[in-house]
Amino acid sequence: MTQDISTVRVGLDDRGYDIEIGHRILPDAGARILGRISGLRRAVVISDSNVAPLYAEPLIGSLDAAGVNATLVTVPAGEPSKSVEQATAIWNQLLAERIDRQTTIIALGGGVVGDLAGFIAATFARGLKFVQIPTTLLATVDSSVGGKVGINLPGGKNIVGAFWQPQYVLIDLSLLDSLPVRQGRAGMAEVIKYGVIADAEFFEYIETNVEKIRAHEPGTLKHIVSTCCQIKADVVEEDERETSGRRAILNYGHTFGHAVESATKYEKYLHGEAITMGMQCAASLSVNLKRIDAEMADRQAALFRQFELPVELDAALDSNELLELMRRDKKADQGNIRLVLPTKMGHVELVDNVPDHEILEVL
Ligand SMILES: NC(=O)c1ccc[n+]([C@@H]2O[C@H](COP(=O)([O-])OP(=O)(O)OC[C@H]3O[C@@H](n4cnc5c(N)ncnc54)[C@H](O)[C@@H]3O)[C@@H](O)[C@H]2O)c1
Ligand SMILES: [Zn+2]
Repeated sequence: MTQDISTVRVGLDDRGYDIEIGHRILPDAGARILGRISGLRRAVVISDSNVAPLYAEPLIGSLDAAGVNATLVTVPAGEPSKSVEQATAIWNQLLAERIDRQTTIIALGGGVVGDLAGFIAATFARGLKFVQIPTTLLATVDSSVGGKVGINLPGGKNIVGAFWQPQYVLIDLSLLDSLPVRQGRAGMAEVIKYGVIADAEFFEYIETNVEKIRAHEPGTLKHIVSTCCQIKADVVEEDERETSGRRAILNYGHTFGHAVESATKYEKYLHGEAITMGMQCAASLSVNLKRIDAEMADRQAALFRQFELPVELDAALDSNELLELMRRDKKADQGNIRLVLPTKMGHVELVDNVPDHEILEVL
């Protein structure tokens, strides 16, 4: 197999790991995983009902060929699988199969599967080794990097979880070809986010390569995914557990976006769509606060539009309700809303105590 692979290292001392990014590397996954986890004999692949029929067979075949005995666990596709009930069912299945601490959990899927499988890995038998094979654009650039894993409670998203870093992340970009178009666009919201928060040159690269990105041109896709992984890896290295505030920059547009998701009951918008509106609210607020000029906010909006992402805030939403939801966001500190606001392209700052009337103005 000829391979042109980019490697991004997440440098966390003895818990550091590589992210390998290339095309058509899934058939080689077994050998690659074995190269990272020596002596591996047993693995449990966790996937969902959309992804497993497409990609579980080549993965399990390659593990088999590498001498790794793999079992497949398939959960229903969709956010409801990130539940206590689903986690319990998998724990019991692992117990019945006498899974022990020599076993590695492999997540094959989008962010739902990654978060759930990572949570199982973090908790079963006090912790199993973990590998991520992300299959959505969002998962390749965001959820598979950084070690946050978890499940939801009926009243709180991602509220039960852990920091549990994988041993290895394998990104086969050809798997993104089967991704529904709307999911791919939503993933672009996070990609564009990285440009705005950390890399003006990258933002410009996206602007000039829209068509190639939409067409999944291999070199372009590899460049954008590697750049995003590198930016996230750098931030995670500096602030793995979100204590210094550095990691918080990744939440650009998210306090607004989470309020939109919550107000629409997580049904109307995909996460990337909601945070697009959120990032545009944050940019407009920054214009009003004279932190950036209107031209930068327009430039951001124009790029979102190129990927058919919703820039205008849903007019059906009530501003006071959104503000209340923002106050209750997990990231808010006792009702104080901490916002991530740009100061120029490629740079953001954390801002506390923005007056309510300024927030309401952009809602
Ligand atoms: N841990 C983190 O740091 C982090 C960061 C961001 C988001 N998340 C979590 O990620 C989740 C969202 O992830 P997502 O957007 O990947 O959603 P998802 O996992 O639900 O995947 C979206 C849909 O695409 C399908 N799919 C996945 N890959 C496919 C492929 N290659 N071909 C065809 N269909 C495919 C899935 O079955 C699903 O129906 C949320 O639960 C969110 O909380 C976690
Ligand atoms: Zn996000």
